Amino acid sequence: MQIAKPSNQIPNVVLEDLLGRGQAYLDQQNIREHIQGKVVMVTGAAGSIGSELCRQIAGFGPLVLMGFDQAETPLFELGVELEKKFPNAIFHSEIGNIMRFDDVSRTMQQYRPSIVFHAAAHKHVPMMERHAFAAVENNIFGTLQVAEAAASQGVESFVMISTDKAVRPASVLGVTKRIAELTIRALQKTQGTKFIAVRFGNVLGSSGSVVPIFTSQVAAGGPVTVTHPEMRRYFMTASEACQLVLQSLALGNGGEIFVLDMGQPVKIVDLARSLILSSGLQPDRDIKIEFIGVRPGEKLFEEVNLDSEHLVPTSHSRIGSLARAEEVDARRVNASLLELEESVRARDLIRMIRLLKEMVPDYIPGSQLMENAVSIGTNHGFAGDAEFSCTQGIEPAIANGALPTDEPIEYASPGRV
Ligand SMILES: NC(=O)c1ccc[n+]([C@@H]2O[C@H](COP(=O)([O-])OP(=O)(O)OC[C@H]3O[C@@H](n4cnc5c(N)ncnc54)[C@H](O)[C@@H]3O)[C@@H](O)[C@H]2O)c1
Repeated sequence: MQIAKPSNQIPNVVLEDLLGRGQAYLDQQNIREHIQGKVVMVTGAAGSIGSELCRQIAGFGPLVLMGFDQAETPLFELGVELEKKFPNAIFHSEIGNIMRFDDVSRTMQQYRPSIVFHAAAHKHVPMMERHAFAAVENNIFGTLQVAEAAASQGVESFVMISTDKAVRPASVLGVTKRIAELTIRALQKTQGTKFIAVRFGNVLGSSGSVVPIFTSQVAAGGPVTVTHPEMRRYFMTASEACQLVLQSLALGNGGEIFVLDMGQPVKIVDLARSLILSSGLQPDRDIKIEFIGVRPGEKLFEEVNLDSEHLVPTSHSRIGSLARAEEVDARRVNASLLELEESVRARDLIRMIRLLKEMVPDYIPGSQLMENAVSIGTNHGFAGDAEFSCTQGIEPAIANGALPTDEPIEYASPGRV
């Protein structure tokens, strides 16, 4: 029996069947006008989204394309690939950490980019529930650092890659991305750079996502592990998402949160079945599908925009703009960020959660994170203080029944989807 080789490339036929739509229409001319002859910087260039952005940007004739990432090998490999595919494009790779001021400002000063795409972030939901400080540092303060450097260098447009997990966040990852959106919108009020955020859902085939995991599970003879029969997600291909991100750059005037139309959500179990079938095998007969339970911080179903907000259409049919995203008071955002930074520096988890919740009132901290916060407080002999802080900070959520107190506490293990 022939079994598919594990690959990050989902077969096109499976993709088309699942998504039921063709490639997005792009106003290529408009995008070219924005990119051609410009210096473009992409943070997180070695990652799934950043590398695809680089591939597409290279095709629009930038003067220089600079990929910034801390991951050496994939950045090197991207350079080799781009050199082959776009022999006339000038690609420079820069190793650096968005959290280090020197790395970011030195690179910006050296290249003086006109456009920055910011895709560097931590992104794994269950992992970030267990590494909440790292998520806040990288996704919020890393973004702030890149955005402030961009503004002070006179960058024309700054496009932040956001996620549908920022909507009514149920995870540390989601709330950090939402605050990163707030942060750049606060900067929009005081700086000349156009700050734009683009939200979308899961990208099929991206690193650590379900497709590479399922394909290797199929290749190993199964089982394919799915968290829940009703688990659904919106999916796009990386190419589709990045095309629409480039289109958003061309549409943006600054301050917008663009939301990409993800089509219809796909049941994860259907995706698993399609991948098994595409390998010439029968689900349940040749390869078992096992349901292993929802992980901390995960929702069964993700919304793409808040109910209270309305999407207004743009000139592109697949891109909406949030008309009533929460009003941003730049001074308050700055003050909250300072407090948040202090709580991270002090490794004060309870205070940090309370501040995250103050900044994003619809954030519902996960039960595992809450247990950790309370147990850390208790272990340090501050049980009274911890309980006091906890009830002060999270009481409203408990009072309205929002905290998922009956949710099983699970620890994520690799390969669970
Ligand atoms: N992959 C998806 O399905 C998807 C969907 C919607 C939104 N997004 C968002 O897109 C962004 C990127 O996701 P991805 O799938 O490309 O992730 P990824 O892990 O493949 O890539 C992220 C890249 O950022 C780099 N990076 C992280 N922290 C850094 C730091 N401090 N300094 C320098 N480089 C750093 C990593 O080395 C990595 O190469 C995330 O914010 C994610 O939430 C992803």
